[in-house]
Amino acid sequence: MNAQILSFFDPATGTGTHLVFDQPGGRAAVIDPVLDYDPKSGRTRHQNADKVLAALREHQLTLDWIMETHAHADHLSAAVYLQQQAGGKTVIGAGIAGVQQVFRKAFDLEADFVCDGSQFDHLLHDGETLPLGALHFTAIAVPGHTPADMAYQIGDAVFVGDTMFMPDVGTARCDFPGGDARALYQSVHKLLALPAATRLFLCHDYPPAGSGRSPCLVTTVADQRAGNIHVHDGISEEDFVVMRSQRDATLDMPQLILPSVQVNIRAGHFPPAAENGVHYLKIPLNFF
Ligand SMILES: [Fe+2]
Repeated sequence: MNAQILSFFDPATGTGTHLVFDQPGGRAAVIDPVLDYDPKSGRTRHQNADKVLAALREHQLTLDWIMETHAHADHLSAAVYLQQQAGGKTVIGAGIAGVQQVFRKAFDLEADFVCDGSQFDHLLHDGETLPLGALHFTAIAVPGHTPADMAYQIGDAVFVGDTMFMPDVGTARCDFPGGDARALYQSVHKLLALPAATRLFLCHDYPPAGSGRSPCLVTTVADQRAGNIHVHDGISEEDFVVMRSQRDATLDMPQLILPSVQVNIRAGHFPPAAENGVHYLKIPLNFF
């Protein structure tokens, strides 16, 4: 039995959220849910997450897991809202603790913010498994974009997070704190060593201008090895590191990196409310 997978695309952030389940009426996981955030007003909404909730209801699924491939820098996680509405446990790679340490300093977080990943319900190490009804996920450590990225394999499907994108888009940037182009190359090749027909489900798509294609959130090992512009067969680690480093030096910070990271390292919770009951995010000046 293969997992059943429904994918949702958020055009505002280019993010893919995936709903994975063993069978109708069975057990489900949501990977990388998006909380809508308007940076102009500071208002959050749940339009993306509500589509996932509707699909959970339609297929009569029990939500067991809300999984993050990493602490995203381009969107806020809807994990807390999903958990409030449908239950489930939040999951991320155990390396999140190191990421929390970096950003705890950057954002001068409250003294009792602990950097041990305990804001999440469950932490996974490389090779660990997570049950999903009659099926199970296996965690595959894929550092590079961040030091703590995890891919999640279930049957013939792998949720690759920010490693590879569609073949015409390439790979994820490696210039965030703890990022490492050499590590990303090795992580990508760990995934590309899987059988050629393995389906790779993506965390993002950004169709190139002029490509004429629609957003797409799934590709295969065979397609990536044949045509990924950054890592197709024949591109050496040295060539990749040079290309990635030069390209990263040209990239702006993601629009939502400052709000996203502050929420996502808390497993989607907002920072504690101030005395007036309002939750605030911080903008460190001249830090990044
Ligand atoms: Fe990312």
